[in-house]
Amino acid sequence: MSLTLIITFIALLGSLYVFCPSSAELPWFEHPAKPDGSLSFLVVGDWGRRGAYNQTKVAHQMGIVGEKLKIDFIISTGDNFYDDGLTGVDDAAFFESFVNIYTAPSLAKQWYNVLGNHDYRGDVEAQLSPVLRDIDSRWLCLRSFIVNAEIAEFIFVDTTPFVNKYFTDPEDHVYDWSGIQPRKSYLANLLKQDVDSALKESTAKWKIVVGHHTIKSSGHHGNTHELNLQLLPILQVIYYLIIF
Ligand SMILES: *[C@@H]1O[C@H](CO)[C@@H](O)[C@H](O)[C@H]1NC(C)=O
Repeated sequence: MSLTLIITFIALLGSLYVFCPSSAELPWFEHPAKPDGSLSFLVVGDWGRRGAYNQTKVAHQMGIVGEKLKIDFIISTGDNFYDDGLTGVDDAAFFESFVNIYTAPSLAKQWYNVLGNHDYRGDVEAQLSPVLRDIDSRWLCLRSFIVNAEIAEFIFVDTTPFVNKYFTDPEDHVYDWSGIQPRKSYLANLLKQDVDSALKESTAKWKIVVGHHTIKSSGHHGNTHELNLQLLPILQVIYYLIIF
């Protein structure tokens, strides 16, 4: 083994360690809590309307609340760009719905974003692309990932591919499923290797799972049947009562 090879090998080990500190398969990020151990953040979803539908007003209020709470970061639960996601990394909607909307100083924090069903109607890879991060460093969108924020660990789950109707009855929409094929193994790996092992390995006091679709909801979309069947059992913890 030449010296170059050994150095490459060590460098590779180093980068593997950075990306996979646990045996969980998901990309993993650290976001330190405040010096007193606390954490505050805003959660927003279903937002990218080029300022319309009161998006600008909500952004303004987020700026005020964000300052009061001294937020550490912002979570987006998806449907980042209506109606059909982004057309590419050069889509002006990225500016019109994100960069030029959330301009309050308190919102100049890291945004952790997942995809919603509307995002899957556009160029999914564009939203995941580092090109957007170069344009606005707040932006981070991945299908599924983990953010370790000390007191809390956030597990972001790509829920859209679970929902059968987008596959069986897409109506007149076209979904970009290019990154999730074959669907069956994508979902199985996500549930068993990624979410399940991340939850088991986490030692954080709070484990918060974030996704676009509601597991239970009284809203007009109602419960998401597929998540009730497949994701909920993984989230439920069984407590054993030991009686002496
Ligand atoms: C904005 O909010 C107001 C007050 O709730 C509502 O009357 C109005 O219809 C909203 N505008 C749009 C474009 O949705």
